[in-house]
Amino acid sequence: MVVLITGAAGFIGSHLVDRYLADGSVVIGVDNLITGGEANLARARENDRFTFIHADVAVPWDGVIDELERRGTLPNLILHFASPASPIDYFEFPVATMMANSAGTHRCLDAAAHWNCRLLYASTSESYGDPLVHPQREDYWGNVNPVGPRACYDESKRFGEALTMTYVRSAGADARIIRIFNTYGPRMRPKDGRVVSTFIMQALQGEPLTIYGDGSQTRSFCYVDDLVEGIMRCAASDATRGRVVNLGNPEEYTIAQLAQIVSEILGVPLHVDNRPSREDDPTRRKPDIGVARELLGWEPKISCADGLRRTIEYFRGS
Ligand SMILES: NC(=O)c1ccc[n+]([C@@H]2O[C@H](COP(=O)([O-])OP(=O)(O)OC[C@H]3O[C@@H](n4cnc5c(N)ncnc54)[C@H](O)[C@@H]3O)[C@@H](O)[C@H]2O)c1
Repeated sequence: MVVLITGAAGFIGSHLVDRYLADGSVVIGVDNLITGGEANLARARENDRFTFIHADVAVPWDGVIDELERRGTLPNLILHFASPASPIDYFEFPVATMMANSAGTHRCLDAAAHWNCRLLYASTSESYGDPLVHPQREDYWGNVNPVGPRACYDESKRFGEALTMTYVRSAGADARIIRIFNTYGPRMRPKDGRVVSTFIMQALQGEPLTIYGDGSQTRSFCYVDDLVEGIMRCAASDATRGRVVNLGNPEEYTIAQLAQIVSEILGVPLHVDNRPSREDDPTRRKPDIGVARELLGWEPKISCADGLRRTIEYFRGS
């Protein structure tokens, strides 16, 4: 199989690259390195089944298409993961975020039509906004502020979803959408502003852990290996064509509990720096993964404590 992964140099993309290479696929990674790093692809670059193309997915793809046709490596599967993903990144690159998920998704869908190949679009639990329904099922339409500070991310992902489904309905595309809930693990950037990396780095450096609001807001945390398994099953499944599938860990923790667990694993006393709540910060987030269980036989296997231990090891060594 030939798999083209956009956002290949990022946190999740690079884990996908490694897993598809391990399974014997030919992998083409496309990335403009706006938030990703080539260091994430160090292992992949040792493999002659891997090709890296430095390109922006939001601009015309002629160069990418020409290059692959010249090489004779035509994808059977496109995984569209290119987009800034942490709040720190999409606040810094709001227009680029909107373009990666709108124009970028358009280019990916057109390329999939050109090669007659399958596509999986990486959307997000942010599509549900600050949900009024709990846990979130795929048929819930969400509660999103279309003009708030997070709209560059939420609304562009929702547009990417709408475009993907329009291609399925009007052009017969073999496409599916996943909504990824908070995922963590090795290769997150220490300063990417996500809660797991922030807490681990603060605890390792003996600093107080920053909690916005009173810490009662909940999240569910999925270890990256579990997520990658779910993505691969979803991409391999005929039954997911034209479907939306939540992928995440349904175990729900408050942010205050997460701070406690990180301190306990590191064996350090818990000190907290409470700050005011952030605008549009969702109060509850937990996936209903019934669709993934039914269609893919998938559910996360790695406990929060185990995943955090592995991630802490990574941060200690990097
Ligand atoms: N990590 C999570 O918890 C999470 C949750 C929900 C959804 N997602 C989605 O998964 C995908 C990957 O997220 P991540 O956490 O690995 O983020 P990341 O920032 O580590 O990776 C994103 C990659 O996309 C690349 N990129 C961005 N815009 C691009 C463009 N226009 N052209 C080419 N490359 C571009 C970046 O350089 C980076 O390598 C994103 O689409 C994100 O929205 C992630």
